[in-house]
Amino acid sequence: MIIALNNKCNLTKPEFITYQKELTHLSTTATLILCPSSLYLGEIAPSSIKLGAQNVSSTECGAYTGEISASQLKSASVKYCIVGHSERRANQHETDDEIAKKIKLLLKEEIIPILCVGEDKTKRQENLQLQVIMEELKMAMKNLSMEEQKKVIIAYEPIWSIGTGIIPTNNQIEEVINAIKKLYPENQVLYGGSANEENIDELKNISCIDGYLIGGLSLKPEKLKIFLEKLEN
Ligand code: 13P
Repeated sequence: MIIALNNKCNLTKPEFITYQKELTHLSTTATLILCPSSLYLGEIAPSSIKLGAQNVSSTECGAYTGEISASQLKSASVKYCIVGHSERRANQHETDDEIAKKIKLLLKEEIIPILCVGEDKTKRQENLQLQVIMEELKMAMKNLSMEEQKKVIIAYEPIWSIGTGIIPTNNQIEEVINAIKKLYPENQVLYGGSANEENIDELKNISCIDGYLIGGLSLKPEKLKIFLEKLEN
């Protein structure tokens, strides 16, 4: 089981130092991946928690002000990197081509991409979720060999569920994850979108989920502890 913590653009430096200490009290058999603000990537003390980034440049090192390259992430012991999050697709207008380039560069540096896909509310209402997701996957994987494709962790994050407290039914999640696994049977698939310590009792009945990509809850170590306990019992 993989639990990836996406802190997004949260926590000041003093807050992050306290937060990091609190995280060390978590006990879990799952692989915990912490994706903090990139400002703190060099601050993580060695521990059982693996390091993830929230973004990477679509270029190699060079004259790209403000960017962080895959080789730089590797040199900071980053093992995973979120790619194609819906917030970046919407706010930074990240394109399928850029996402595909980022994945290729990450794999070259042996960093595992966590590729986010998911439909918005309108596409869900039109029952077009599978078309949207399959297109996003096809575009993101287009530069990869079969061997490379298998390494990508896929995160199903319905956009209408992110930060809203609304989660799909188990049947809706199963429909999507099973469709993804039909095309990409060897890839691990996570669920993300308002997963929390209250709905985990229901979510954990979905056997095809290989883990969770967690936003808001990642900032609350006490509640995260309850989430992990419920998940594992
Ligand atoms: P929330 O858990 O806050 O809904 O965020 C999910 C997410 O976007 C993780 O990448």
